[in-house]
Amino acid sequence: MINVLFVCLGNICRSPLGEGVFKHLVEKENLQNDFFIDSCGTSAHHIGELADKRMRKTAATHGITLTSRARQIEVTDLDLFDYIIAMDTDNIKNILQIKNSTHNSQIVLMRDFDLQETGQNVPDPYYGGIKGFENVYQIILRSSAQLLKHIKNEQNLIAN
Ligand code: 4NP
Repeated sequence: MINVLFVCLGNICRSPLGEGVFKHLVEKENLQNDFFIDSCGTSAHHIGELADKRMRKTAATHGITLTSRARQIEVTDLDLFDYIIAMDTDNIKNILQIKNSTHNSQIVLMRDFDLQETGQNVPDPYYGGIKGFENVYQIILRSSAQLLKHIKNEQNLIAN
């Protein structure tokens, strides 16, 4: 099993979408039995909440249903997950604060896999308008496709 965790601040906008889009791509390639995919936030602010209504609506227009409930990252996540995909550099800093030397998950930035504006943050859409959510969708879709390619190569995965 390959364990992939998407992380943002609140776990109600960017990382639930990352989880939903990546699951969708994995299912399209019939690789769902090879993956465990989850998301969480670095803050405790929205624990238990569904994804933001605007994020769910944007995902739904692209055929993706977001059902996750927000949770906060825990130290045990760094034991379990092989790939921890952070939406911005603040998320990375926060994850590294709980990481110890026994952990060997790969902690990487989502847009390291974006062929456009590589290495940038996924912008936080929370305080902006609905267009920002579509922008986040496009960024996450592009990045997730490359991320899946990368993991398949690294793990020598071939679709069933
Ligand atoms: P997310 O977006 O990190 O993509 O889930 C945010 C959601 C809520 C807040 C900030 C960002 N907030 O400040 O409440």
